[in-house]
Amino acid sequence: MLGGPYNTRLKPNSIHSRRSRRLIDCFSAVPGVHGRRIRVDMMTLLKIARMGHPVLLQEAQPVEDPLAPEIQTLIADMIETMADAGGVGLAAPQIHVSKRLFVYFVPESRSAGPDDPAREVDALINPVLSPIGDAQMECIEGCLSIPGLRGAVPRFAQVRYAGLDRRGQPVEGIASGFLANVLQHEYDHLDGILYPMRMTDHRRLGFNEEATRFGLPA
Ligand code: NI
Repeated sequence: MLGGPYNTRLKPNSIHSRRSRRLIDCFSAVPGVHGRRIRVDMMTLLKIARMGHPVLLQEAQPVEDPLAPEIQTLIADMIETMADAGGVGLAAPQIHVSKRLFVYFVPESRSAGPDDPAREVDALINPVLSPIGDAQMECIEGCLSIPGLRGAVPRFAQVRYAGLDRRGQPVEGIASGFLANVLQHEYDHLDGILYPMRMTDHRRLGFNEEATRFGLPA
């Protein structure tokens, strides 16, 4: 993994390295435009904790001020880290911050109709989740903190959720399908629960390559 808590990666046209993510003005070193002020787009990738790190087993603490600059920067960096890693959700404990927030989205490809629409990327801060009824569904899950593996996890088919979005505005709703899956997985991270701890049949845990080749056992 990476050497420090942060790894600053630059987008292709960047010429400076810096920890913070923002557009800055600087003088270009490119011949022909020397001396012109250009915009350089910075992004910060956070180190992802892997299973075995104690932070993943802790109960996270509530966020006191969602609009605090450090929380807003954290959310922006988490979104970029999630995108870079190819995930659909990332909880703060996964980047070594034991706070009750996560970022998530539902891609078009995972939407299953009007009850489970695609969702733009957002944060859910201090979330509250409760199941609606007893109906369960089986989800095939992976986790950025458990790279290379996937497993079959029983989840509630429908959940009620509430919390604050990344702008600190209250949100609430009823989720089913993939959104319900993502919310339950990420919420569990805030209570120190990883998906293998929810599995009831550990024969159905495998490496991605083998699971693709052979399928998870019935
Ligand atoms: Ni996870």
